[in-house]
Amino acid sequence: MIRLIFFTCIVFALALSIDVPLYQSLPPTPHLPNGGRQGRYITSDGSRLWYRMYPGQPNRPLITFLHGGYTNSNYWGLQITALRGHFPILAIDSRGHGRSVDNTSNPITYSIMADDVVSILDHLGHNRTHIVGWSDGGIIGLDIAMRYPLYLHGLFCFGCSYSYENVNVTIMSSPTFLKCMPRVQEEYSHLNPQPQNWKEFKDKMESLWSKLPSWNEKDLKDIPDKNEGKEIWVVDGAEEEAINLSTPKEMSEWIDGSKLVILPGVSHFAFMQSPAAFTRVLKQYLFAKESSIDSLRS
Ligand SMILES: *[C@@H]1O[C@H](CO)[C@@H](O)[C@H](O)[C@H]1NC(C)=O
Ligand SMILES: *[C@@H]1O[C@H](CO)[C@@H](O)[C@H](O)[C@H]1NC(C)=O
Ligand SMILES: *[C@@H]1O[C@H](CO)[C@@H](O)[C@H](O)[C@H]1NC(C)=O
Ligand SMILES: *[C@@H]1O[C@H](CO)[C@@H](O)[C@H](O)[C@H]1NC(C)=O
Repeated sequence: MIRLIFFTCIVFALALSIDVPLYQSLPPTPHLPNGGRQGRYITSDGSRLWYRMYPGQPNRPLITFLHGGYTNSNYWGLQITALRGHFPILAIDSRGHGRSVDNTSNPITYSIMADDVVSILDHLGHNRTHIVGWSDGGIIGLDIAMRYPLYLHGLFCFGCSYSYENVNVTIMSSPTFLKCMPRVQEEYSHLNPQPQNWKEFKDKMESLWSKLPSWNEKDLKDIPDKNEGKEIWVVDGAEEEAINLSTPKEMSEWIDGSKLVILPGVSHFAFMQSPAAFTRVLKQYLFAKESSIDSLRS
C-alpha cells in the first residue's frame, strides 16, 4: 500500500513537471546557424570581443542581435536562423560573456558595452543598424539610442528596463531563473576562452545590476528620435518574471513615438518559449518602415 502511494506520488510529480506552463519553461538553448564569418575585435583596453557576421541582401539594413546578462549570442539562434540570408546579421557576445574576454581590471557597464558595439560596427564598416536586444542587450540598445542615435535605424527592446530598481524582487525564485543559472554557468565553462574567470565575471555583473541602469523618465523622453524616424518598440512577455510588470508600459509612454507590444503567455524567455510568434512580431517591427519588402511577410 505504502509502495503504491509512493509510486502514485512519483507519477503525480512527473505529471506536474511535464505540465509546467509555457512561461515557466526554459527550452534548450538554441544554436547559431553555421556559416557567416566570425571574428574577434580587440578593444583599446585589450578586451577580445567575439562576433559573427552573416551576409544578407545588400539593400537591406543590418540587424545587430545583443543577448542578455550572463548569456551569449546562441540564445538568439532561432531568430537569426529565421532571418539570415534576408538581412545582414551581426551577433556579438558582450565583453566577459560567452566567447568574449574582457580586461579583468575594468568594470562591465552598459556604456562600455555600448561603446564596444559601436567600435565593432565601425570596424566592420557599418554606420547604421537595427538593434534587437534582450534584457541587458536591450539596455545596451537604449544607451546607443541616447549616445549614438545616428547609428540606429531602430531598437527592438525586449524584456528591458530603465533602472536597476525595475528588477522584480522575486526573480531569483522564479522557475525559469532557477533553471537558467546553472545552465549559463555550464555554457560559460565551455564557450569562454578563460572559463576560470567565471567568479570574477559574476561579481562584476552583480555589481553592475546593483546600480545600473539608472535612467529616469526624463532620460527616456530625451532619446533623440523624430528627425531620424527611428523605430523603437518596447516588447515584453505578459508573464515577465524578471522586470516589474509595469515597466514596459512606462518605458513606451516615455519614449517618443515608441510602440508597446506585450506577448501573451510568455515570459523573459519568450523568444525560446514561443519562437515563431516572437519572430513574427520581430518581422513586423523590421517591416514597419520597409513597406517594399514582401517576401518575408506571413
Ligand atoms: C587593462 O586596462 C587597464 C586600465 O584600466 C590598462 O592599464 C591595461 O593596460 C589594460 N590591459 C590590456 C591588456 O590592455
Ligand atoms: C553610411 O554608409 C552608407 C553605405 O554603406 C553610405 O552611403 C553613407 O554615406 C554612410 N553615411 C555616413 C554618415 O557615413
Ligand atoms: C517594482 O515593484 C516593486 C513591488 O514589487 C515596487 O516596490 C517598486 O517600486 C517597483 N519599482 C519600479 C522602479 O518599478
Ligand atoms: C513579480 O513577478 C511575479 C511572478 O511572475 C508576479 O506575480 C508579480 O506580480 C511581479 N511583481 C511586479 C511588481 O511586477
